Parts: sequence; structure tokens; C-alpha cells
Amino acid sequence: MLSVAILAAGKGTRMESSMPKVLHKISGKSLLQRVIDACVELNPDQIFIITGHKSKEVQESIPEDKKIHFVIQEPQLGTGHAIQVLCKEAKENKGKLLVLNGDVPLIKPKTLNKLLKLHDSKNADVSLITTKKKNPHGYGRVFLKGDFIEKIVEEKDCNNQERQNLLINAGVYCFNWGNLSKIISTLKSNNNQNEIYLTDTVSLLKNSLSLEIDDDRELQGINNRVQLSKCEEIIQNLLKEKHMLNGVTFINKASCTISEEAEIGKDVIIEANTHIRGNTRIFNNCVIGPNTFIENSIVGVHCVISNSTVYDSQIMDDIKIGPYSHIRPKSKISSYSKIGNFVEIKNSHLEEESKVNHLSYIGDSLIGKSTNIGAGTITANFDGQKKHQTKIGKNSSIGANTVFVAPINLGESVTTGAGSVITKDSKDNSLAISRTKQVNIENWKKKKP
Ligand code: UD1
Ligand code: CA
Repeated sequence: MLSVAILAAGKGTRMESSMPKVLHKISGKSLLQRVIDACVELNPDQIFIITGHKSKEVQESIPEDKKIHFVIQEPQLGTGHAIQVLCKEAKENKGKLLVLNGDVPLIKPKTLNKLLKLHDSKNADVSLITTKKKNPHGYGRVFLKGDFIEKIVEEKDCNNQERQNLLINAGVYCFNWGNLSKIISTLKSNNNQNEIYLTDTVSLLKNSLSLEIDDDRELQGINNRVQLSKCEEIIQNLLKEKHMLNGVTFINKASCTISEEAEIGKDVIIEANTHIRGNTRIFNNCVIGPNTFIENSIVGVHCVISNSTVYDSQIMDDIKIGPYSHIRPKSKISSYSKIGNFVEIKNSHLEEESKVNHLSYIGDSLIGKSTNIGAGTITANFDGQKKHQTKIGKNSSIGANTVFVAPINLGESVTTGAGSVITKDSKDNSLAISRTKQVNIENWKKKKP
């Protein structure tokens, strides 16, 4: 039987934040959710999340799951105290108990599996992950004696000599739960932090083993925002490396961010300062950026999107967008279309080969195939209470500065005169024009005041 306990009760004082530490996010996902996702892959029988500081907020951040049980640690007297509370609350203390710090978010399931294997093969009381860090500041130092761990000394309790030890405790432990529960209540808080340390269990248990990992990136703990940013960098570097090896070019890698869910095709060029977020899929041969933000959207092949923002939308093939366009949710831009500078599109479908080239707002609209929307055209979709639709048929030519007062329905091959305010529907092949005729007064002189 495998149980997991995730320590997430601490305040995270060093974050200087009103939000619990484990709810801070890296690449869009909270630290706690990352740790949960890693351990779920091991298919444990049950997962205990120890919460305390702002426990309600922490609990509400996690989607319901039959395997997940919350245990409240109040007050928070240290990592050892958290497990004391768990041991009292859990029905049975048996099998293996994998304990994970909620603030070590990049731990990989593969590494956890390695730890479980070592633990089983050596029939250990506790096995834990260690690594040698060039700068071990802030971590507990691990002291070995032969094949076993003799003790762990926290940074704040180290003497000068102990502080030189570079072997650190990563905060990832596998316990024989039965044996742990026999000694857990004997932990003391006679240390410089007056806390009950989980790390003191290693000297109380007989068979304590270390699994030393070379690549310490996944073991980065987060106590402050410098370390939070370090983790973000680690995760982003790994992601971009993956995409580059799959055929994506980054012109200025450091200035871009990519979500873990994003899929990017071959021969895509990502220009500087471009951010691909959420569930976004970009197909082959696109050029995205510079200065572009795309979230939860699909972008077809051969698209060029520069200096623009796209949310929750579908951009089909061979489309040029930008510079300075804003494609808002539920928009679909069909193939061979062009959206030019300073254009906002919202909840609209533009059929193939349509063009909105300059300074327009197209909201709640259906624009037919090969229709050209002149510069400055606005769909006035809101009457103060409700949103209404604008429909423009295919092959239409909309004159510059046309305002459509929705709801409005124009047929196919319609032309509108520049500067018209269109309030009535019009049929196929018509010209809709609504403006006063120009009057020229000759030899006109300004009145003197
Ligand atoms: C801990 C380890 C240290 C290790 C480091 C790895 C102890 C005593 N020290 O130190 O050896 O090198 O992690 O990152 O365990 N928490 C609770 N209840 C509490 C206190 C903390 O649930 O009463 C949770 C925190 O929310 C956090 C985790 O336990 O997620 C670790 O606590 P933290 O105070 O950050 O421990 P470190 O000082 O980093
Ligand atoms: Ca920590």
C-alpha cells in the first residue's frame, strides 16, 4: 500500500505574500498542484494534503478527487508536527508513506519511482532524496555514516563545519509508515527554530538511506521569490529545449514563455517577447511575434502574427494578423484572411479571404467570404442593455468609417458608402449609404467676432 503526504500547511513567511506559498504559480500551475500531479502518476492508494495556514484557500484550489484527503495542522509547529497530526488522523499507519514538501514543485515521477524502488529493495525505514549543491544555503545538510544517513542538520542549527557539507535534503522522503508511527511522537523541538523537524526522524530510525541525484534542477525548493523565479526559469528552459529539438526556432529564447500544454509545429519561428499560454496549438511554418500573446487558441499553417494578442480563438491557415491586433474570445478567422493594424475582433466569424485592415471593431459579427471591411468600420453591437449581431454577406465592400448599428443583416455583394451609419438591413447587390450631401458655399468668409 502506498500513501502520500504533501506538506502544505506553512505560511511561507519568506515569500512576503498574503497568499499561501503553495498557491503561488509557476508556468500557470500552483506549486501544490504540481506536486500532486507528480505523485498521482505513481498511482498511490491515498493522498493526504496537510494544510493549516489559510487552509480553506488551499483546499479550494484543488479539484475534488476521491483519493485526496485534507488534514488540518493547527497550529503549525514544524514538518515533524505535520506528520504527527497525520499519523493521529489516518485510520491505519501501514505500508509506505511518501512525504513530499509542497514547495518542491519540479520533482519528477521517475525520480519518485526510483526512491520507492530503492526503499523496497533495501527494506528501509526511511529513504530520502539528496543532492550535492554548490550553494546549499537554506537546506538541511545530510550526514552519512557508511551506507546510512546518520543525521540531518538544518541550516540554522549547523555549526561552521557542518555548514560546509554540500549534501542536502531535498524534502522528499519514503517511510515505512508502521515504523515511523512508533517514533513520531518522540520528536522534540529543542532547536534554533523551536520547531518539530521531520528530519530528526532519520536518526531515530535504524535503516535510513540516501538516494543521491546528480541533476539538482528538479529538487529546487521554493522559500522566496528568487527561488520561485529560478524554478520558472528551469521549467521554461526545459520546455523551449523540447520545442527547439522538435523544429521550432526561438529568435530570443529568454524573452519568451511557453505553457506546458502548448503544441508547436515544425519550422515555426517564435520572435522575441512572445508568450504562448494555455492550451494553444500552432501548426507548421508560422511566424509568431515579436511582442505577441496567444492563449488557448489554434493557429493553422503559414500564419504570420506580429505584435498582437489572441485569446480563445481559432485562426485557420495562411492568415496575417497585426501589427497591433486584438483577437478576443470565440473568434474564428478563416483561411487567407487578413487582420491589419489596430483591429479588435470579438466573438465573430470571418469567412475566407476577408480583410479588416485598419482601425476597426468587429464584435458579434458574421463576415462573408472575400468581403473587405474599410478602415475605421465599427459594429455598434451594444444597445446599452443587450449585444446584437451584425451579418455581412460575401463579396461586400464596406466603405471607410461605416458604423453598423446592430442587429443588422446585409446581403451579399453589398457596398456601403464611406462614413455611413447603417441602421437598416439591405439586400444583395445594393448600395447602402446614409449621410448628408456635401454642400459647398462659395466665397464663404468667417464671421468677425
Ligand atoms: C525543509 C527541510 C530541509 C530541506 C528543505 C528542502 C525540515 C525541518 N527541513 O526545510 O531539511 O532541506 O525542506 O526544501 O523539514 N510545513 C507544514 N507544516 C509546518 C511547517 C511546514 O506543512 O508546520 C510545510 C510547508 O508548507 C512547506 C514544507 O512543509 O511546504 C517545508 O517547510 P519549510 O518551512 O519550507 O522547510 P524548509 O526550511 O525549506
Ligand atoms: Ca522550503
